[in-house]
Amino acid sequence: MTLIFAHRGSAGTHPENTMEAFMEGERAGADGMELDVQLTKDGEVVVIHDETVDRTTNGKGFIKDLTLKEIKKLDASFKFKKLLQKVRIPTLREVFDWMKTNEMICNIELKNGIIPYPQLEEKVLSLIEEYGYQDRTIISSFNHYSIVHCYRLNPEVEIAPLYSNGLFMPWVYAQSINAKAIHPNVKVAPDALIIDSMKAGIAVRPYTINSESLMKRLFSIQCSAIITDYPEKAVKLRESFEV
Ligand code: G3P
Ligand code: CA
Repeated sequence: MTLIFAHRGSAGTHPENTMEAFMEGERAGADGMELDVQLTKDGEVVVIHDETVDRTTNGKGFIKDLTLKEIKKLDASFKFKKLLQKVRIPTLREVFDWMKTNEMICNIELKNGIIPYPQLEEKVLSLIEEYGYQDRTIISSFNHYSIVHCYRLNPEVEIAPLYSNGLFMPWVYAQSINAKAIHPNVKVAPDALIIDSMKAGIAVRPYTINSESLMKRLFSIQCSAIITDYPEKAVKLRESFEV
């Protein structure tokens, strides 16, 4: 069965990378969620996609220049302003606390390709260890040095390289860095590549799978997992596929 991961939470229907979006993913029946992490000025791991707060909040500036206290004052309701209450940027710790109430898998994407946040890998891993989530977390990144560093720090936690340009036999590359999965852009993940990778024991979790036709295509080859902005739609479609 293809697992369904809610991309930045249920980002198609709720403000991305917020508790509201993660809770919606769980309500919809997703198996897991994908989220992005960056580091604040005072070294806190926060869940947000961009290096700045400009696009998704009512504030301005780089995360690296703002303290957690300053970031917590911002409204992250983004284009979903009709939500009555203010929506906050969560810390990774807050997401982990909520995960105590469910069995969701958490795919943490380290957003350190542009800003080399010091100790981001150490901080994320120590939180995973504190909560005992070694079996429920997957660390991915476009920064492959960073995921290899994570593997060296704790080989128990799964790592997965993200990529968006075509790679030749990516499962061989994955094996060479001790990754058990690849997270390709779906544009560079044809069926044959997905099938060959899974046969080689490397799971494939392409992103971002939003159309019904893409979902059907990937369900029909039993792709390991999909990462989607619309978990409710994906779950319903998967149910109809299984009947
Ligand atoms: O992890 C998959 C996907 O989230 C990578 O791209 O830009 O949405 O973080 P992006
Ligand atoms: Ca991401």
